[in-house]
Amino acid sequence: MCGIIGYTGPRQAAPILLDALKKLEYRGYDSAGMAVISLDAIQVRKMRGRLQLLANMTRDGRDLPGTVGIGHTRWATHGEPSYYNSHPHLSSSGRFAVVHNGIIENYRPLKDMLIAKGYTFLSATDTEVISNLMEYCDQGDLARTLMAAVKHLQGSYALGVLSADEPDRIAAVRRDSPLIVGRGEGENFIVSDIPAILSLTRDVYLMKDGEVALLDPEKITFFDPYGEQFDKESFHVDWDVSAAEKGGYEHFMMKEMMEQPTALRETIRPRIKDGRFVLDGLQLDPDWVKSLSMVHIVACGSAYHAGRLGKNLLEGRLGIPVDVDIASEFRYRQPILKPEHLVVIISQSGETADSIAALREAKGKGVKTLAIVNVVGSTIAREADYTLYTWAGPEIAVATTKGYTTQVAALALLTCCLAQERGQMSGEELQQMEALLMKLPDAAEEVLSDHKEVQRLASLFFNHKDIFFIGRGIDYSLSLEGSLKLKEISYIHSEAQPAGELKHGTISLIQPGTLVIALATGKRLRDKTISNIQEVRARGAVVLALCLEHDEEIESVADHVLRVPFLCEELEPILAILPLQLFAYYVAALNGNDVDKPRNLAKSVTVE
Ligand code: G6P
Repeated sequence: MCGIIGYTGPRQAAPILLDALKKLEYRGYDSAGMAVISLDAIQVRKMRGRLQLLANMTRDGRDLPGTVGIGHTRWATHGEPSYYNSHPHLSSSGRFAVVHNGIIENYRPLKDMLIAKGYTFLSATDTEVISNLMEYCDQGDLARTLMAAVKHLQGSYALGVLSADEPDRIAAVRRDSPLIVGRGEGENFIVSDIPAILSLTRDVYLMKDGEVALLDPEKITFFDPYGEQFDKESFHVDWDVSAAEKGGYEHFMMKEMMEQPTALRETIRPRIKDGRFVLDGLQLDPDWVKSLSMVHIVACGSAYHAGRLGKNLLEGRLGIPVDVDIASEFRYRQPILKPEHLVVIISQSGETADSIAALREAKGKGVKTLAIVNVVGSTIAREADYTLYTWAGPEIAVATTKGYTTQVAALALLTCCLAQERGQMSGEELQQMEALLMKLPDAAEEVLSDHKEVQRLASLFFNHKDIFFIGRGIDYSLSLEGSLKLKEISYIHSEAQPAGELKHGTISLIQPGTLVIALATGKRLRDKTISNIQEVRARGAVVLALCLEHDEEIESVADHVLRVPFLCEELEPILAILPLQLFAYYVAALNGNDVDKPRNLAKSVTVE
């Protein structure tokens, strides 16, 4: 996600900004920029691409004079990576400059309002409304102007703002996006993440939602959300830098697992407006939506597993066949595609070679394509007819976690949107689904809040040679992902079987002591799975069951039990995968493996 830095002090700002932006690179970005005040005017340098290009362009910042500035690495959300969409954004007159991390949900009406008042826009971003709002709300005082401007904003933001009229100052505010203020000796900073300024200061202020900071070189003034000045306590950082880059977590995978509630919130919340499902980027022709007769979901790896859950959602609500295929198979099998079909390509990176080829194959046959992608501006996002983004933020660990859960959430949103347009969900059903989707991030937070039992179980089984997963229906699709997660990072042989298929071969591998992880979260098929649990236990297997809370009967048939709260059958997999991700993580960590970069695997598979 975007990175923000700001500096005010006696030194030249641009080299300091560049150095800090370098340390924010790990957050993921596709363009970078800086704004510096020099001779009472704001100078901006920005560009698409790596930070090194910006460093080259400004001779490591030396060509950009001025001692007050803000910098930004942009991870595109609204608008492709480009010069105009890069931050900082200037107001129409060039007197205000803004860097932003987050999403302004109501930017469209704000933009319309500002255009009607004569403000001009150069970018497709949501952020540019903020620089123009600063000018619109100008109170002749930077902090007060910022307070007035943010009153108009809905959504999430961390903001750093400059005004040419107050050339020593930076104002900053945050809501639901990270922002920290750093206090130096005669110089002060704003930053997205503490590690980026640890070489400059270890005294920081952790900003709360709605608080505004006004930074001069010699002092920092804080205002509460009501505009009252207050004294804020600073915090001395004594952690080591490398741990801090991972937000204090030992591995990116753990950090990303813990980010899932936020990633789900960001993916779901902007898509539900006034009781309706509104998917940005999806202007589907209503007559075509009604004529839709089949959906083909195509993806690789975990995205394919997410697609299998999408089949359950789409078939259940739309009553049309949904085919799910692995991209490397789909591209060569000459699928039967018709104009009233939709091909959905799912890809976290948007760069997986087989998924790109499958997309092109479908487009070549004249079928409409829709991509569910996390990385903005990636090949799949650009080439598909429609793109629905998962707002998971950059995923660094090779084993996907938040990428996968947000893909399933996006499929649920797509299902509801199509069912709504086809008149297949009543107002009441839509409302129910909306309420459940809104609850989902908190429920995920609850599941992730306590891992002691998962950790204990991992310590019992981390040295096993084979681990089997079984489940039926959506629990089978989920067990495929649980098993993949485990084998890719722990290097333990694992396979997932439909529980009813076990007797047709795989049960011959069950010996006394073999671990079988049985998933029984789907109410409809749970009893059948219990019978399969009995079968493997009769052959000496140790069974770890994953079931819903209050399912007492499972206790009597399984050796160990993990529970997840019940939300609803269709969305349950998003909660149920969380303990399995944690289990895989702890097993891999106990084996001393490189959790974030498992052997032989790549984050993005760009070759066939
Ligand atoms: C690799 C990654 C997986 C991912 C798969 C598909 O194998 O390690 O985590 O699920 O590629 O990637 P995509 O970017 O297309 O979702």
